[in-house]
Amino acid sequence: MASFRMIKRQFACRQMFRNVIKLSEPTLAPPLYQLQPRANSVSLASTKKILEESLSEIKNAGTWKNERIIVSKQGAQIGVEGQTSSILNFCANNYLGLSAHPEVIEASKKALDTHGAGLSSVRFICGTQNIHRELEEKLASFHGREDAILYASCFDANAGIFEVLLSPEDAVISDELNHASIIDGIRLCKAQRHRYLHKNMEDLEKKLQETSGARQRLIVTDGAFSMDGNVAPLIEICDLADKYNAIVFIDECHATGFFGKTGRGTEEYYGIEGRVDIINSTLGKALGGAAGGYTTGPKALIDLLRQRSRPYLFSNTLPPPVVASASKALDLIMQDDSLTGKVLSNTKRFRTQMVNAGFTMSGDPDHPICPVMLGDARLASNFADKMLQQGIYVIGFSYPVVPIGKARIRVQISGAHSEEDIDRAVSAFINIGRELKVIS
Ligand SMILES: Cc1ncc(COP(=O)(O)O)c(C=O)c1O
Repeated sequence: MASFRMIKRQFACRQMFRNVIKLSEPTLAPPLYQLQPRANSVSLASTKKILEESLSEIKNAGTWKNERIIVSKQGAQIGVEGQTSSILNFCANNYLGLSAHPEVIEASKKALDTHGAGLSSVRFICGTQNIHRELEEKLASFHGREDAILYASCFDANAGIFEVLLSPEDAVISDELNHASIIDGIRLCKAQRHRYLHKNMEDLEKKLQETSGARQRLIVTDGAFSMDGNVAPLIEICDLADKYNAIVFIDECHATGFFGKTGRGTEEYYGIEGRVDIINSTLGKALGGAAGGYTTGPKALIDLLRQRSRPYLFSNTLPPPVVASASKALDLIMQDDSLTGKVLSNTKRFRTQMVNAGFTMSGDPDHPICPVMLGDARLASNFADKMLQQGIYVIGFSYPVVPIGKARIRVQISGAHSEEDIDRAVSAFINIGRELKVIS
């Protein structure tokens, strides 16, 4: 005879089965997959309480980030949910305006037809198509390097490189304001870890002297810093690397494709092409803006990454339409450098007018990341909301993305903006800046 416990279990199973059947009965609307909430879970209740406290802290600090919904393609002008007219966009990393370029879209559609939606595989099992290798070769040749390896994102490329390259007998020396993905990647490696003060060459030299016993020393920096729009002092960094026999890694997410005369990035900006040893960058910004990242550098490093880099080995390959869009964007950049010239002239136009109006601008005068410094988090978010009411989409950045007390609006200039677009944005900044007493 079945025990009481067995009967109870059978009943519970039948009940569950009935729920599933009920949910999957054909209806006009897609069936809702709703589970019964766990009724009396004390542990979940206390976890929820902890989460609610964190959420309240963020709201009280004025650093809550709302996501606005875009209802159009990415571009200089976009449709935003809740807005009746189109909005001028000044906060995408769409530096060359290629994210919705007709040839980029066409290439992506074609790849969908010829190579499918995706590979359902990591690269080394059955996820490498001819177009993946072609893009790697194209990227390596664009940067003048021996080889390149693709990742699902530059975050992954940064997460996957340091652990492979460095062992406990090595040292990594990293700028304190490097991107979060570099910080995370370095955390995963077993090398001695050192940070130098932001762009401070005396401190970097001190750290190089302190690590003289290390087998290899790797200096790590963003080429251009995403929150500040300032550029690493790459000539001095490479000189120090030569002097102390170190190697240099740069993250070129905010440089590749548009910075330097032909968009080759920070090395080209300084006229020191080839001095950096390893470059990581993204396909998700100027190069079509879809997704993806890569490492380019010595072949031996790329070969080893293919064998050992965890985000490469254990994550799906890039979808063919994404590969094709980046590849086409790269072709367009290599054919014609007029777009990079346009980004630069737009940047100068914006920065000059903003400084003349009395705003405090941060960053390098040639870089299209133009932070308008406001200090207070609430002010930055309020300012950005008012800009949207005037048809200009910008975002306030506050802690933890930037240090406390250094909130700002990060304006990003694109080659797709017209001079009138730039002037309209400046005039909105001036109106609201006066209203909120940021400028007089
Ligand atoms: C400097 C820097 N490195 C890495 C990344 C990550 O790039 P991806 O979006 O390809 O993961 C970003 C993106 O914001 C970045 O700004």
